[in-house]
Amino acid sequence: MYNPFSLEDKTVLVTGASSGIGQQCAIDCSRMGAKVILIARNEIRLQETLSLLDHPERHCYYKFDLFQTDQIKTLVDEIVEKQGKIDGFVYAAGVEKTLPIKLLTPDDYINVFKVNTLGAFEFIRYFSNKKYFRDGGHIVLISSITSIIGRGGVSAYAASKGAMVSAVRSMALELAKKKICINCISPGTILTPLMQNFLSDLSEEDYQKRVSGFPLGLGEVVDVSNACIYLLSDASRWVTGQNLIVDGGYTAR
Ligand SMILES: NC(=O)c1ccc[n+]([C@@H]2O[C@H](COP(=O)([O-])OP(=O)(O)OC[C@H]3O[C@@H](n4cnc5c(N)ncnc54)[C@H](O)[C@@H]3O)[C@@H](O)[C@H]2O)c1
Repeated sequence: MYNPFSLEDKTVLVTGASSGIGQQCAIDCSRMGAKVILIARNEIRLQETLSLLDHPERHCYYKFDLFQTDQIKTLVDEIVEKQGKIDGFVYAAGVEKTLPIKLLTPDDYINVFKVNTLGAFEFIRYFSNKKYFRDGGHIVLISSITSIIGRGGVSAYAASKGAMVSAVRSMALELAKKKICINCISPGTILTPLMQNFLSDLSEEDYQKRVSGFPLGLGEVVDVSNACIYLLSDASRWVTGQNLIVDGGYTAR
């Protein structure tokens, strides 16, 4: 059956794979036929995620803390040696930090950047080498609408997400020689378990204020994973250096 979004015969590596958006991306990649390599910190949650994939026996996981930026080369070497070259990469790992500017220290910025941004860039450094990543492959970084809009209290997070969007434009030009496409997805508020906890702590007034910004209501993890499948598939082979906004119309206002 004709399916331009198929990921058959592709190996896709997903970080942040044990929960929320990353987990749904991993599940949907397996449904689209990819062999999926999961990366996250918690082994029990990795095993749970593995069991949710289509044909769990085809996939594998690596336990890794992305805070260890200097260990990423060792991880990539080990993965490629055992699993072969990578065709698709989804960087969904991320941490949020909500603090007013006056309380944000340089260490707060560094810690947020390390996991949200530098981890992704370090993988891409190795994936720019044909030893690790196949020509014509696809890279997707999960950014956020805070890369393009302001929201009080999230300066460090927003800066880390904006840096992804800026870097991807330049990276796209370099990687085009190898026909590798690299793009960001910037989601609005997505109902992940963590986000649901955060929203349930808001007053009714603040909750309504947050929700009313989204003409199509709040998003679900599949809204992001579907966009991710498109950007991993050959259907998007002429799309690179972009920031795909998936926000239920929030930024259309
Ligand atoms: N949920 C939203 O509303 C929303 C909106 C915009 C962007 N995002 C982005 O989407 C991505 C996924 O977020 P989510 O909502 O699914 O949240 P989540 O907390 O469920 O997922 C984040 C993932 O990152 C992993 N992670 C965090 N620090 C790590 C570290 N040091 N090493 C390895 N893994 C680490 C976590 O284990 C988790 O699997 C994040 O980058 C987030 O910034 C989320």
